[in-house]
Amino acid sequence: MSKASQYFLKSVMYGLIVCALIQVVPYGRTYTNPPIVREPSWDSPETRAIARRACFDCHSNETIWPWYSRIAPVSWLVRYDVDEGRKELNFSDWQNGAREGERPDKIGREISKGKMPPFQYFPTHPEARLSEAEKRRLIDGLNATALRR
Ligand code: HEC
Repeated sequence: MSKASQYFLKSVMYGLIVCALIQVVPYGRTYTNPPIVREPSWDSPETRAIARRACFDCHSNETIWPWYSRIAPVSWLVRYDVDEGRKELNFSDWQNGAREGERPDKIGREISKGKMPPFQYFPTHPEARLSEAEKRRLIDGLNATALRR
């Protein structure tokens, strides 16, 4: 075997060992969802349906945890997004505007600027990509929802 292929095989082996070892890190290993405390009084089922599609995985207690979210290091990134997302805005624990991320102007800005959902979410969740019309409907719907407290 040439030196180059020996080196290549060694790298693959070490890579596999590292992948196996990082699986024991406890961070990112809870996939249970906390109970639903209170949802906003949605202005329409359609607003909820679009939010469910595009936002609920990180901004609700109804996160769907796919198989790859259980494998490090992806599990660490997903855990981080869900924890930080829920902290800012949680549609299952709606606090009537007390949370910074519940502010309609903020939500509207994040959606219209294309910052939410974050880009890294799309390759695995193409259904979360909203058309311009759907974005408009979601923004208007969430604005109306925020007024119904
Ligand atoms: C893949 C996870 C994920 C999805 C899906 C997602 N978000 Fe977020 N969101 C986050 C994270 C993480 C943060 C906190 C860090 C940040 O601001 O980037 C956040 C923060 C926010 C904030 C607060 C921003 C601020 O500056 O205070 C708002 C508002 C928000 N998201 C709205 C939405 C809406 C509306 C959707 C659906 C259209 C959505 N997000 C979808 C992960 C997500």
